[in-house]
Amino acid sequence: KKILVIHGPNINLTGVRQTDIYGREGIESINRQIVSRAQECSFECEVFQSNHEGAIIDKLHEARETCDGVVINAGAYTHYSYAIRDAIALLTIPCVEVHLSNVYARDEFRAKSVIAPVCAGSIAGFGKYSYLLAVSALQSLIQ
Ligand code: DQA
Repeated sequence: KKILVIHGPNINLTGVRQTDIYGREGIESINRQIVSRAQECSFECEVFQSNHEGAIIDKLHEARETCDGVVINAGAYTHYSYAIRDAIALLTIPCVEVHLSNVYARDEFRAKSVIAPVCAGSIAGFGKYSYLLAVSALQSLIQ
Protein backbone atom coordinates (compact mmCIF):
# COMPACT_ATOMS: atom_id res chain seq x y z
CA LYS A 1 0.00 0.00 0.00
CA LYS A 2 1.13 3.52 -0.79
CA ILE A 3 0.36 6.82 0.91
CA LEU A 4 0.92 10.37 -0.25
CA VAL A 5 1.77 13.18 2.18
CA ILE A 6 1.07 16.66 0.79
CA HIS A 7 2.54 19.79 2.35
CA GLY A 8 0.92 22.97 1.07
CA PRO A 9 2.12 26.57 0.90
CA ASN A 10 4.87 27.77 3.25
CA ILE A 11 5.27 24.36 4.90
CA ASN A 12 8.68 24.12 3.16
CA LEU A 13 9.85 26.84 5.56
CA THR A 14 8.84 24.94 8.70
CA GLY A 15 11.73 25.29 11.17
CA VAL A 16 12.42 28.79 9.89
CA ARG A 17 9.09 30.64 9.88
CA GLN A 18 7.22 31.63 13.05
CA THR A 19 9.19 29.12 15.13
CA ASP A 20 7.17 30.02 18.24
CA ILE A 21 4.14 28.55 16.46
CA TYR A 22 5.57 25.89 14.14
CA GLY A 23 8.72 24.85 16.01
CA ARG A 24 12.41 24.82 15.12
CA GLU A 25 12.58 21.44 13.49
CA GLY A 26 13.10 21.61 9.73
CA ILE A 27 10.85 19.97 7.17
CA GLU A 28 13.52 17.50 5.97
CA SER A 29 13.84 16.13 9.50
CA ILE A 30 10.05 15.91 9.88
CA ASN A 31 9.77 14.21 6.49
CA ARG A 32 12.29 11.54 7.51
CA GLN A 33 10.17 10.75 10.57
CA ILE A 34 6.98 10.63 8.48
CA VAL A 35 8.58 8.17 6.05
CA SER A 36 9.91 6.05 8.89
CA ARG A 37 6.48 5.95 10.61
CA ALA A 38 4.96 4.97 7.25
CA GLN A 39 7.51 2.15 6.88
CA GLU A 40 6.53 0.87 10.35
CA CYS A 41 2.97 0.69 8.97
CA SER A 42 4.29 -1.16 5.89
CA PHE A 43 3.38 1.80 3.68
CA GLU A 44 5.32 3.07 0.75
CA CYS A 45 5.34 6.85 1.26
CA GLU A 46 5.70 9.76 -1.13
CA VAL A 47 6.10 13.28 0.25
CA PHE A 48 5.13 16.24 -1.92
CA GLN A 49 5.30 19.96 -1.20
CA SER A 50 3.98 22.81 -3.29
CA ASN A 51 3.19 26.45 -2.80
CA HIS A 52 0.76 26.31 -5.74
CA GLU A 53 -2.91 25.43 -5.52
CA GLY A 54 -3.06 23.90 -9.01
CA ALA A 55 -0.01 21.69 -8.39
CA ILE A 56 -1.65 20.34 -5.22
CA ILE A 57 -4.83 19.61 -7.18
CA ASP A 58 -2.86 17.83 -9.95
CA LYS A 59 -1.14 15.72 -7.28
CA LEU A 60 -4.49 14.78 -5.71
CA HIS A 61 -5.77 13.70 -9.15
CA GLU A 62 -2.64 11.58 -9.62
CA ALA A 63 -3.23 9.96 -6.21
CA ARG A 64 -6.55 8.52 -7.48
CA GLU A 65 -4.58 6.10 -9.65
CA THR A 66 -1.46 5.57 -7.57
CA CYS A 67 -2.22 5.78 -3.83
CA ASP A 68 -4.28 4.15 -1.10
CA GLY A 69 -4.45 7.13 1.25
CA VAL A 70 -3.51 10.79 1.56
CA VAL A 71 -2.34 13.05 4.40
CA ILE A 72 -2.66 16.76 3.64
CA ASN A 73 -1.57 19.93 5.35
CA ALA A 74 -3.06 22.44 2.93
CA GLY A 75 -1.64 25.42 4.85
CA ALA A 76 -3.71 28.56 4.42
CA TYR A 77 -5.59 26.96 1.47
CA THR A 78 -7.34 24.95 4.17
CA HIS A 79 -9.41 27.97 5.02
CA TYR A 80 -10.65 28.99 1.57
CA SER A 81 -9.76 26.66 -1.30
CA TYR A 82 -12.97 25.13 -2.64
CA ALA A 83 -10.86 23.80 -5.54
CA ILE A 84 -8.69 21.69 -3.20
CA ARG A 85 -11.83 20.63 -1.34
CA ASP A 86 -13.40 19.44 -4.60
CA ALA A 87 -10.22 17.54 -5.52
CA ILE A 88 -10.31 15.75 -2.14
CA ALA A 89 -14.06 15.10 -2.51
CA LEU A 90 -13.53 13.20 -5.76
CA LEU A 91 -11.02 10.79 -4.14
CA THR A 92 -12.24 7.31 -3.34
CA ILE A 93 -9.32 6.77 -0.91
CA PRO A 94 -9.21 8.22 2.62
CA CYS A 95 -7.67 11.65 3.19
CA VAL A 96 -6.59 12.91 6.63
CA GLU A 97 -6.28 16.66 7.27
CA VAL A 98 -3.37 17.78 9.46
CA HIS A 99 -2.06 21.00 10.95
CA LEU A 100 1.09 21.57 12.95
CA SER A 101 -0.53 24.27 15.07
CA ASN A 102 -3.79 24.33 16.99
CA VAL A 103 -5.77 26.25 14.39
CA TYR A 104 -8.63 26.77 16.89
CA ALA A 105 -6.40 28.75 19.26
CA ARG A 106 -5.27 31.29 16.69
CA ASP A 107 -6.83 33.83 14.29
CA GLU A 108 -10.57 33.43 13.82
CA PHE A 109 -10.18 32.67 10.08
CA ARG A 110 -8.05 29.61 10.91
CA ALA A 111 -10.84 27.95 12.88
CA LYS A 112 -12.75 27.29 9.64
CA SER A 113 -11.58 24.47 7.37
CA VAL A 114 -13.35 24.10 4.04
CA ILE A 115 -11.62 20.75 3.47
CA ALA A 116 -12.54 19.13 6.82
CA PRO A 117 -16.01 17.96 5.67
CA VAL A 118 -14.51 15.90 2.83
CA CYS A 119 -11.68 14.40 4.91
CA ALA A 120 -11.91 11.23 6.99
CA GLY A 121 -10.79 13.26 10.00
CA SER A 122 -8.56 16.09 11.15
CA ILE A 123 -5.54 16.27 13.45
CA ALA A 124 -4.23 19.66 14.62
CA GLY A 125 -1.99 21.09 17.28
CA PHE A 126 0.61 18.39 17.82
CA GLY A 127 3.44 19.74 15.67
CA LYS A 128 5.18 17.01 13.67
CA TYR A 129 3.21 14.41 15.64
CA SER A 130 0.07 15.58 13.80
CA TYR A 131 1.58 13.97 10.68
CA LEU A 132 2.72 10.84 12.53
CA LEU A 133 -0.75 10.41 14.06
CA ALA A 134 -2.29 10.88 10.61
CA VAL A 135 -0.14 8.05 9.22
CA SER A 136 -1.38 5.84 12.07
CA ALA A 137 -4.95 6.90 11.29
CA LEU A 138 -4.46 5.82 7.67
CA GLN A 139 -3.14 2.47 8.89
CA SER A 140 -6.47 1.81 10.59
CA LEU A 141 -8.47 3.16 7.62
CA ILE A 142 -6.64 1.18 4.92
CA GLN A 143 -6.95 -2.53 5.58
C1 DQA B 1 -1.13 25.36 9.20
C2 DQA B 1 -2.20 26.32 9.77
C3 DQA B 1 -2.66 27.30 8.71
O1 DQA B 1 -3.63 28.17 9.24
C4 DQA B 1 -1.48 28.11 8.20
O2 DQA B 1 -1.91 28.96 7.16
C5 DQA B 1 -0.34 27.27 7.77
C6 DQA B 1 0.03 26.12 8.59
C7 DQA B 1 -0.54 24.44 10.29
O3 DQA B 1 0.07 23.44 9.92
O4 DQA B 1 -0.67 24.72 11.48
O5 DQA B 1 0.35 27.58 6.79
O6 DQA B 1 -1.74 24.55 8.20
